[in-house]
Amino acid sequence: MAQNTPTQPALNWTIVGQGAIGALAACHLKQAGYPLSLWLRQPRPLQIHFAGQQWEFSPSDSAIDAVLIPVKSYALLDAVHQLLPHLSAHAQIVLSHNGMGTIDAVLPLLQPGQGLWFLTTTHGALKQGASLQHTGKGQSVLAALNRAAAPYCQAVLQAMNAALGPVTLTEDITPFLWQKLAINAAINPLTALYNCRNGELRQTQFQSTLAAVLQEVCQVASACGVALDEAQLQLKLQQVLSATAENYSSMQQDIAHKRRTEIDAITGYVVRQAARFAIAVPHNSALLEQVLQLQLKLQS
Ligand code: PAF
Repeated sequence: MAQNTPTQPALNWTIVGQGAIGALAACHLKQAGYPLSLWLRQPRPLQIHFAGQQWEFSPSDSAIDAVLIPVKSYALLDAVHQLLPHLSAHAQIVLSHNGMGTIDAVLPLLQPGQGLWFLTTTHGALKQGASLQHTGKGQSVLAALNRAAAPYCQAVLQAMNAALGPVTLTEDITPFLWQKLAINAAINPLTALYNCRNGELRQTQFQSTLAAVLQEVCQVASACGVALDEAQLQLKLQQVLSATAENYSSMQQDIAHKRRTEIDAITGYVVRQAARFAIAVPHNSALLEQVLQLQLKLQS
């Protein structure tokens, strides 16, 4: 059963959307005994089949005091605007998505007592209809992004450990977001363009592009004040490709299902930051262009 210390108010959690990572967090929180609701665009009960059991979720029907928003980066601001009138004055809001560039847009929308957090995760999940699989056991990094988050640190950390643990708490999420951005900028566009599993990028033909993409991201991160260890990132990339070799990346899946991709918040973010510092990023620019073209073609 979920427990909170007497100094930390108990939080009723809401999870937004019905994506795979949100569903995984929801099932894990239910397993751990947390009271939990789902927030869907069209409010309705939802069933998820996970770990040999059927999990039932009902729509949120009271003021929200803690919410995990694991929606796509491009859907985040809409989701936040929809949630705002339903958030309690001290609500704790946890963002979690691929890509960067959303935090500065969300912070000014909150009341002074509402806490903002970011959780970046390497867990992998696959949702096919009502059936959910935990395809990659990962870990997460969590950070408070404003002062109103501080009093709820223990309660939020505990819940996120149950949802997508093990969780490391950090003071500064920015280097972790850049590392994830670099890995996503390397894997996601290529798997989408070549319609392949992550593991196929281990072939020799992709190595120079992968290395060049990472090198460009490191250069841009450095201009933005974040020192990434390029050699370590190249190693990390190969580890992720091996650990998720059988998986399809989120962008490959988006393209395969003719959905909008997160290219704008991943490669688009790299290219926009590069432009601010007049840094040439030809490999990321080319991938951005190709994925945008493919996305446009599939949606027309
Ligand atoms: O977006 C994804 O699919 C994942 O973040 C990653 C790490 C590329 C693994 O598939």
